[in-house]
Amino acid sequence: MPRLLSGIQPTGELHIGNYLGAIKNWVLLQGSYETFYCIVDLHAMTTPYEPKEMSQRTLELAKALLACGIDPQQSVFFVQSHVKEHTELAWVLMCLATMGELSRMTQFKEKSSEQKGHATAGLFTYPVLQAADILLYKAELVPVGEDQVQHLEFTRDVCRRFNSRFGQFFPEPKPLLSKTPRIMGLDGQTKMSKSRNNHIPLLAAPEEISSLLKGAYTDPARLRRHDPGHPEICNIFTIHKGFSTQELVSSIESDCRTAGIGCTDCKKILAENMAKSLEPIRERYLRLNDSEVLEVLCAGATKAQSVAKETMKQVREKIGLLLV
Ligand code: TRP
Ligand code: SF4
Repeated sequence: MPRLLSGIQPTGELHIGNYLGAIKNWVLLQGSYETFYCIVDLHAMTTPYEPKEMSQRTLELAKALLACGIDPQQSVFFVQSHVKEHTELAWVLMCLATMGELSRMTQFKEKSSEQKGHATAGLFTYPVLQAADILLYKAELVPVGEDQVQHLEFTRDVCRRFNSRFGQFFPEPKPLLSKTPRIMGLDGQTKMSKSRNNHIPLLAAPEEISSLLKGAYTDPARLRRHDPGHPEICNIFTIHKGFSTQELVSSIESDCRTAGIGCTDCKKILAENMAKSLEPIRERYLRLNDSEVLEVLCAGATKAQSVAKETMKQVREKIGLLLV
């Protein structure tokens, strides 16, 4: 099976945008690929964070991912900082990456402008650490969203540069773009995110789901109940596709266009279906205890380390360091 790797930052609680956009797909990919899933805590240090919260966030995220169906029997599931080789390979790649190409990264430009002159070198070299995550395991495929395609292109560039300078070694990783449309926030303004507080938490209780949906933005052209709607531009409709059956989705689509269904009812149905799909995740989450999760992460780190150590042994030799 081809090897696949992806990473997720432990910033804030998971919401249904993360779930539909990435996690659900990660779970499905297990079994068809040799899957490596990494909680990238070192990447979360590239913008200001609260040290007291980091370890708890990492643990909570691990718990949520396990509850979603990441299976440690099928996947190597681990925390980035537990495998020191990530930072070691990042240094090697930093000596191949150019200032120019890193300056062109749109995510850096966006995030550094938010930091108003306090952007760190860590933020600047973020894509290099990401390239190290991928190459360390010689992953061939990387499931990511549209916003990470540039980082993947960068990874492929440094990969080729390494191979041509030191001899063929790393396979060139390819992005595996998921078809999932991006989920907008409940305010309909930007994509769903915890920091903008326009999200539905993945672990929300059924009552919280319905009350959050009640206030959600729909088709702005649909001012009155009898106005025909435009499901293709409605975020609620997009979310329906993630939680409701194909049959229901098609009937909502046509009923919305003819004003056969109102937004209140449409949201009510969605709330029920979301609660139904998310309930098992919530239950598994509540049943998992911290020590169990720590054990899983520890075993995952051991598996990841054995691959990482082997890669770095060969890398050190290739790049010409003195071995003792
Ligand atoms: N930069 C990715 C994101 O923000 C997270 C990430 C870190 C990642 N390392 C990775 C994704 C390696 C895929 C592969 O979504
Ligand atoms: Fe959106 Fe549903 Fe309202 Fe149509 S009926 S505009 S799909 S919320």
